[in-house]
Amino acid sequence: MASIIVTTRDGQEHVLPAKPGLSVMEIIKDGDIDELLALCGGNCSCATCHVYVDAASAALAGSAGADEDDLLDSSDHRTPESRLSCQIAFTAAMDGMRVTVAPED
Ligand code: FES
Repeated sequence: MASIIVTTRDGQEHVLPAKPGLSVMEIIKDGDIDELLALCGGNCSCATCHVYVDAASAALAGSAGADEDDLLDSSDHRTPESRLSCQIAFTAAMDGMRVTVAPED
C-alpha cells in the first residue's frame, strides 16, 4: 500500500497508509490526526485543512485552483508550499509524499 508522511505541529512524523482516490485530507483524517480540522468536510470553504507540501512532491500535487487560492490568501501562514489538503487527490505516483500540517489560523 502506498503511504504519505505527515509531520504534525509537534514535529512528529507519521507514516499513513494512502489509498489512491482519496484526498490527502481524508488520508490524514483516517490516520487519526485530529489537529487537521477539515471543518467543511472537503468542500473548499474553510481552509482548516491547510498543509505544506514538500518541494519534491509539489509538482505531483498540481497547483491550487482559483477558489483554493482565494482561501489560502485568508491564512496568515501561507507560504509557496501551501495547499488545502482536501483539494489534492492522492494518486499512486504520490507514494511517499511529505506534507506538514500548517499552524492554526
Ligand atoms: S476541508 Fe475545508 S477547505 Fe479543505
